[in-house]
Amino acid sequence: MTLQASGRTLTVSTGDSLLEALEAQGLRPAHGCRMGICNSCACAKLDGVSQDLHSGEQNADPVSALRLCVSRARGDITLDL
Ligand code: FES
Repeated sequence: MTLQASGRTLTVSTGDSLLEALEAQGLRPAHGCRMGICNSCACAKLDGVSQDLHSGEQNADPVSALRLCVSRARGDITLDL
């Protein structure tokens, strides 16, 4: 996982949500409900394939408001964090 804004590269589990993966690395991204409702955890995905944990849908396109708590990486991914 590449964090573009902070210039960091992390190796994380693709089994965890992006929020859990970031927290496991000691980071504290903004969040609220942890259930995909409040949008507090939304951040831009600049590159890579993400998967929605609720629908299973995969998305290879850049998105402006990926919800970290209900998404996981399906390979290398770049976030605007
Ligand atoms: S923490 Fe509420 S949508 Fe992710």
